[in-house]
Amino acid sequence: MALNAEAKKTLLRKIPHGVFICGVAEGADVNGFTASWVTQGSFEPPLVVMAVRADSASNGIIQRTGKFSLNVLAADQKDLAAVFFKPQKAIGGRFDAAPFSLGDLGLPVLDAALGAVECEVVGHVAHGDHTVFVGEVKSAVLNRDDAALELSSTGWQYGG
Ligand SMILES: Cc1cc2nc3c(=O)[nH]c(=O)nc-3n(C[C@H](O)[C@H](O)[C@H](O)COP(=O)(O)O)c2cc1C
Repeated sequence: MALNAEAKKTLLRKIPHGVFICGVAEGADVNGFTASWVTQGSFEPPLVVMAVRADSASNGIIQRTGKFSLNVLAADQKDLAAVFFKPQKAIGGRFDAAPFSLGDLGLPVLDAALGAVECEVVGHVAHGDHTVFVGEVKSAVLNRDDAALELSSTGWQYGG
């Protein structure tokens, strides 16, 4: 069975995704970017799996520091997600639109998000245009339990 590019694209775009802000920190630098390729990978220990563009600024920071946060956006926070995938003048500039504090692991936790988890990287696969990171959840903060933003509601595509 050959790889039919159109079939592959159509089928992979049917995988349901959320929309998150991944936070990273290195020294005095903090950065954040919109991530939708995220899923849970284990109950015990709690693991999450996230794919990060190989050529992004944040990828190198995660490789070097071995940690990242995942902020869960509310269903009405599409505008905030848009801030975090647009090019920025300087690293961390996207946070001008989104107040945050640093969590237990020193990672950005957005005030406006439903909540956030902080993770330590326990493994990664660097193959292709994204690196797949597996993170163990070490801290979790819930600001409010409400409906989360889903990629399907935004009209955006990231996949295929
Ligand atoms: C809807 C949507 C979902 C995205 N999901 C991801 C993702 O899962 N992983 C990723 O690396 N980039 C993803 N991106 C792209 C990043 O948000 C974008 O490349 C960002 O500029 C990277 O920031 P950085 O270079 O400062 O790290 C997504 C973009 C959009 C519009």
